[in-house]
Amino acid sequence: MKAPIRVAVTGAAGNIAYSLLWRIAGGDCFGPDQPVILQLLEITAALDKLSGVIMELEDSALPLLWGVVGTDAPDVAFADTEAVFLVGSRPRTKDMDRSDLVAANGPIFVGQGKSLEAVARRTVKVVTVGNPCNTNCLIARANAKKLPDTAFSAMTRLDQNRSAAQIAKKLGVSPDAVHNVFVWGNHSDTMAPDLRLATIAGARAGERLEPAWVDGDFKKTVATRGKAIINARGASSAASAASAAVDHMRDWWKGSEGRIVAMAIPSHGWYGVPEGLIFSFPVRIDPTGSVSVVDGLPVDAWTEARIKENVADLETERNAVAALLG
Ligand code: NAD
Ligand code: LMR
Repeated sequence: MKAPIRVAVTGAAGNIAYSLLWRIAGGDCFGPDQPVILQLLEITAALDKLSGVIMELEDSALPLLWGVVGTDAPDVAFADTEAVFLVGSRPRTKDMDRSDLVAANGPIFVGQGKSLEAVARRTVKVVTVGNPCNTNCLIARANAKKLPDTAFSAMTRLDQNRSAAQIAKKLGVSPDAVHNVFVWGNHSDTMAPDLRLATIAGARAGERLEPAWVDGDFKKTVATRGKAIINARGASSAASAASAAVDHMRDWWKGSEGRIVAMAIPSHGWYGVPEGLIFSFPVRIDPTGSVSVVDGLPVDAWTEARIKENVADLETERNAVAALLG
């Protein structure tokens, strides 16, 4: 057995965490031989609820779970962490867009960014799930300037998974047969799935899918899926979000095995996206966790328009939180 690693999850008494914690502690992110110590952050008012979640974790008798800490102090939750899931924040309701959450949730990521800078490992991997996740990640990153860009990411893996699942359902194949789907931009309605490199059981996706379906039902379903779930369930996606967070962190930790995946990371100017914006790109991840943007893809008129639209969307959000960027 390896030495345990410290993994923080914020919003640990919430709906996503109720699924996510068991997946992490079950070995789905860091491997079946990697023990974890979970460091769980909540607001003070939710500490009682969190104590119930911790009792249930203990009662699950999970072999890889070597310890659990519950706290309302970010410096305790993030101390010496190698992986961090920033989930804690308010979900939207039926009448809201994700960007409407900026004012309510943005300030959370100022203090958490500062705390990550102060106490997390220099090699920490942070995935931001709480919405609007790209801009919340931007805020955390801006408040942790001594950490490298490579520490920060936001989650567009749910959009990738939704894309793969819609294709699999349409063709009656396993989602696992669908490779190299990725999405551009913001985790918002402007987010753009790109199937140009996608394969289905080894064949090019373009040979098996009707363009009219891809440009119509497919793109609309993926872009509006979050709202459809809120309308149907009366609550935002939780188990599927946890599953996507596991996929995101597992690939970052162990590598994507040559596959292209979607990850929102601080731009270094790739595809004309302004430096620093947290933008979803096609990436590959090597077994050491090093993330490389798949650069040099042809930018046709459709892609260029989608990239510009997402940049504009993210710049609007960035302007709205200018006061939080340190
Ligand atoms: P939830 O309301 O069930 O749980 C959120 C938890 O966060 C609550 O327990 C709350 O007390 C806690 N919290 C609030 N402020 C906190 C703080 N400062 N520090 C620590 N904890 C804090 O919500 P949920 O369903 O778990 O969703 C969480 C977030 O994830 C929402 O913003 C939601 O929109 C977002 N989300 C993102 C994706 C994505 O694809 N990126 C997918 C689904 C949900
Ligand atoms: C989702 O995509 O399901 C989440 O981001 C929740 C939401 O508000 O859409």
